[in-house]
Amino acid sequence: MKKIFITGSEGFIGSHLTEKLVKSGYNVRAYVQYNSFNSIGWLSNIDKKYQKKIDIVFGDIRDKENLENSMKDCDYVFHLAALIAIPYSYKSPASYIETNVVGTLNVIQSAQKNRIKKIIHTSTSEVYGTAQKIPINENHPLVGQSPYAASKIGADQVAISMSKSFGAPIVIVRPFNTFGPRQSLRAVIPTIISQFVLKKKDILIGNLNSSRDFNFVEDTCSGFICAMKSKFKSAEVFNLSSGKDFKILEITNLLKKISRYNPNIIVDKKRIRPKKSEVNRLIGSSRLARKYLNWEPKYINKKGFILSLSKTYEWFCDNIEIYNKNSNKYNL
Ligand SMILES: NC(=O)c1ccc[n+]([C@@H]2O[C@H](COP(=O)([O-])OP(=O)(O)OC[C@H]3O[C@@H](n4cnc5c(N)ncnc54)[C@H](O)[C@@H]3O)[C@@H](O)[C@H]2O)c1
Repeated sequence: MKKIFITGSEGFIGSHLTEKLVKSGYNVRAYVQYNSFNSIGWLSNIDKKYQKKIDIVFGDIRDKENLENSMKDCDYVFHLAALIAIPYSYKSPASYIETNVVGTLNVIQSAQKNRIKKIIHTSTSEVYGTAQKIPINENHPLVGQSPYAASKIGADQVAISMSKSFGAPIVIVRPFNTFGPRQSLRAVIPTIISQFVLKKKDILIGNLNSSRDFNFVEDTCSGFICAMKSKFKSAEVFNLSSGKDFKILEITNLLKKISRYNPNIIVDKKRIRPKKSEVNRLIGSSRLARKYLNWEPKYINKKGFILSLSKTYEWFCDNIEIYNKNSNKYNL
C-alpha cells in the first residue's frame, strides 16, 4: 500500500485525514510539529487500534533538512501544516509568512528531492476575500484581507510557480470553512457550540451577519483523497465547498433547537474583525471538484448542515473536558 506523508497531521483537519487514510489501509507517516511536551495533538484522540499504526515523526516545516529526511520512502504528501488563526495573524504577520509561505516552499522542495508522486497542497477560501461574485469559482480574484489570507495566497503562488518552473507534481485543494469534532475553540462554530454545551446564560459572538459556506470535516477529507487519486498534478486548483452559506445568527438559532437551550445572544465587539478585514460573505462553487475529482460531499443543503452541526454538538458534549483541561492549564 502507498505511503503517505502528512504535515499538520496532529491538527483538526489533519487528524481526521490521518484517521481516514489509516482506516482505509494506507501507511501514514504523520509529521507532528516538535514540542517539548511530546504532544501528538489530536492524533491522541484516535482509537488506539489505529493510532499505533501511524508512523509519527516530529519536526517543523521551517526546517528543510528535517523535512527532507522525514519524507524518505513516501509516495504522496498532504501539506496541511500552517498557522491559521486570523486574529493572531494581525499580531504576528511575519510568523505567518515564515510558516505558510517559506514552509510551503520547503515542503515542495523536499518532496522533489524525494521524488514524491504528488503533493496535495491546502489552500483556503479566505484567499478570495469578500465575494465579488456569487458563487465564488476558482477564477475569482484573490484579495488578501488579512495577513493569514496573504500568506496563503503566497503559499498557493509558490506551489503554482514550482509546478510551472520545475514540474513539481502538485494539486491544490481550496476548502471553504470546515468544522467538526476536534476543532479549536477559536473557530466560529466551536466557539458558539462550546458556550451552549457549558450552558452559558449569555453567549458571546462576533459578527452575527457574516455568512460562510461550511463543509463538514468528513467531506473536506474525502475531497483531499479524491485530489490524491485524480490525474491532476499541474497545480490545478479545486474549491471544496457545500454551495450554501449560513449566517452566524442562523447557526446560533439552529443550535438553540439542537441543544434545546435558549441563552441570550450578545455581540462581543472584541470578536469583530477590523472593518476592511472582515469577509462578509463566502459561498463557493465546487463544480470543478465534483466534475473532475468525482468529489461527492455528503453533508449538503440545510438538512446535511443540520445533521453535521448536530454530530459536532454531540461530540463537544462528550469531549468538552479536553478543552476545559487545556484552558485551565494555559489560562487561555
Ligand atoms: N479549518 C478550516 O476551516 C480551514 C479551511 C480552509 C483551509 N484550511 C487549511 O487547512 C489546513 C489545516 O487547518 P486546521 O483547521 O486543521 O488547523 P490546525 O491549526 O488544527 O492545524 C494546523 C497544524 O499545522 C501545524 N503547524 C503549524 N506550524 C507548523 C510548523 N512550523 N511545522 C510543522 N507543523 C506546523 C500545527 O501544529 C497544527 O497541527 C491549514 O493549511 C489551513 O489553512 C482550514
